[in-house]
Amino acid sequence: MAEAIYAPGLEGVPVTHSGISHIDGSAGLLEYRGYAIEVLAEHSSYEETALLLLDGELPQATALASFDAGLRAHRRVKYNIRELMKYMPVTGHPMDMLHCAVASLGMFYPQQELSDAERENVPHLDAMAMRIIARIPTIVAMWEQMRYGNDPIPPNPDLGHAANFLYMLSGQEPDPELARILDICLILHAEHTINASTFAVLVSSSTLTNPYHVIAGAIGALAGPLHGGANQKVVEMLTEIGSVERVPGYLDEKLARKEKIWGFGHRVYKTRDPRAGILKGLMERLAARSGLKHTRLFEIAQAVELAAGERLASKGIHANVDFYSGVLYHEMGIKDDLFTPIFAMARSAGWLAHWREQLANNRIFRPTQVYVGRHGKAYVPLAERG
Ligand code: ACO
Repeated sequence: MAEAIYAPGLEGVPVTHSGISHIDGSAGLLEYRGYAIEVLAEHSSYEETALLLLDGELPQATALASFDAGLRAHRRVKYNIRELMKYMPVTGHPMDMLHCAVASLGMFYPQQELSDAERENVPHLDAMAMRIIARIPTIVAMWEQMRYGNDPIPPNPDLGHAANFLYMLSGQEPDPELARILDICLILHAEHTINASTFAVLVSSSTLTNPYHVIAGAIGALAGPLHGGANQKVVEMLTEIGSVERVPGYLDEKLARKEKIWGFGHRVYKTRDPRAGILKGLMERLAARSGLKHTRLFEIAQAVELAAGERLASKGIHANVDFYSGVLYHEMGIKDDLFTPIFAMARSAGWLAHWREQLANNRIFRPTQVYVGRHGKAYVPLAERG
């Protein structure tokens, strides 16, 4: 048998047929269901984009109203989930809490396996997806209260998805402009073809496991610093740099040590990630508002982008989505360790769209390997091993 071709990191290897999103990495283009990300960021809402990703078409007004009403109605989680969260260490990372709490939803809302009939029942799958999308922000915001010893703030059904999340984080109804900025961030993070966490979705979906396991697994994959965890790392890096003057020296030292600059580089984009440009624009929109305290980080970020461009652009390494999102959330007053959970909240729509797409044409993933180990070894009893 001919030896299989091994592609480290599966670079360039298609693992599915998908109609959900498309990237042109050399032109810096991203589309969801055929719509350019810039257009969605300008005109859509997270609720509409999530339904577009799930169903494939921009919804009619009644369908959107019903999806939005469903999200608002299913934000609350069972009291037992709160009890479970009470026993988690408050010093734990919120992504670890989220991974665990989302996996536990499968026990509190049992759905152990999907029958053939259920897999073909689109409204049933839609309802399951909608409930998961509704509950992830609740869990994140509950944790933000509970880890400081406070009672969670109940969701407010009068507020949209982004505004309600900000409300549950702080107890204050957010300024509509801030809510819209977060809404756009959620649109930008909602989907991105077959990255590491979405591939994890495909693999676990293909076993017909319940969608809570699917999404919990994806959250685990997203948490890593090479993936969604980079947004928190970016802010740590900018804080460590501390001033615009220190930027060139810091980058030179880091690159000389062959270390990565957080928030730069991408497997697919060889030009600037279009989401980075939109996020930078949002940051400018936020910074232009009166009363904003901390713009120093944004100044350092812009200096890093410039200096990194001089050093790395020739290698096709540019700012990615994580570079400005962390800065933006930080300036919005959101705690740094919540950046990646917010990414997960947004991405749940894309993950669940891939879950549904996988179920519609399923075959279990079972790749192979190039075995580089030994064969036929004789067992040596413990007492005789040197
Ligand atoms: N800083 C400096 N050099 C970099 C960076 C970076 N951020 N990213 C890639 N490179 C260099 C590598 O050192 C390597 O150089 P070499 O060929 O001289 O050895 C070359 O570019 C290729 O890098 P790989 O890591 O092999 O690229 P890969 O496609 O496997 O990884 C990744 C992509 C993981 C995103 C990488 O660019 C990286 O680690 N970036 C920093 C972390 C980050 O920002 N992650 C978020 C990505 S977006 C997202 O997941 C939501």
